[in-house]
Amino acid sequence: MEKFYKLFRRNLKTPRLELRVLEPTPENAELVWNAIKNENPADFKYVNWTPEYKKPLPESLAETLAQMQQEQNRDVIPNGAVWYVFHDGKLIGHHGVFYFNNNKSMQSGNVWFVKSAWGHGFNQEIWALLIKMAFEQLGANRIMRQCMANNEQSQKSISGSGFHLDGRIRASTQMPDGTFMDQLVFTKLAKEYKK
Ligand SMILES: CC(C)(COP(=O)(O)OP(=O)(O)OC[C@H]1O[C@@H](n2cnc3c(N)ncnc32)[C@H](O)[C@@H]1OP(=O)(O)O)[C@@H](O)C(=O)NCCC(=O)NCCS
Repeated sequence: MEKFYKLFRRNLKTPRLELRVLEPTPENAELVWNAIKNENPADFKYVNWTPEYKKPLPESLAETLAQMQQEQNRDVIPNGAVWYVFHDGKLIGHHGVFYFNNNKSMQSGNVWFVKSAWGHGFNQEIWALLIKMAFEQLGANRIMRQCMANNEQSQKSISGSGFHLDGRIRASTQMPDGTFMDQLVFTKLAKEYKK
């Protein structure tokens, strides 16, 4: 895992964006809260928030900080990397990946952008870098991405990055309103990667 930590747990740059590692401090939580506090929860309904905050968006600065702390402990420390996405110095989103060294398999983490940042190709730009690093530097054999079956915007984005639809995991996710949602699984394999 050392190679994964070294390559991915640091600030990264794409042509238009900066990916910054933000510790869960009150100051950083304020940056995040200020970016999301006026967003429409309906635009975030497919984001996989942590179990304790099963709602589309945190509803206060305190909840934002608690969520960042929980993500750090639950996701980042074991085998993940998480970034906040900045464009022109402004926080516009969140991105992350996990790595499973035994299977040389990377998995997408929780990804979201504020609504005004959709439709600019930012997600695909970030994935272009992550895919390149995973296959060329880390030596991954596979990258897997999942999205809820109703999340059309996300499906388009994943397909747009050249991922193959492997299938559908039925009723795998319970939504905050209690309904169950299918998940779509997409992969890209090292042998399919073109430099
Ligand atoms: C899912 C999500 C990240 C996708 O964002 P996105 O902006 O559509 O992502 P992409 O990078 O694939 O951008 C593609 C769009 O940018 C446009 N675009 C503009 N410039 C582009 C470029 N240089 N390259 C690629 N696409 C470009 C494309 O035409 C496309 O627009 P369209 O949606 O109107 O067809 C975003 O909708 C989101 O944050 N949703 C809320 C949270 C969520 O559901 N997360 C997913 C959990 S699985």
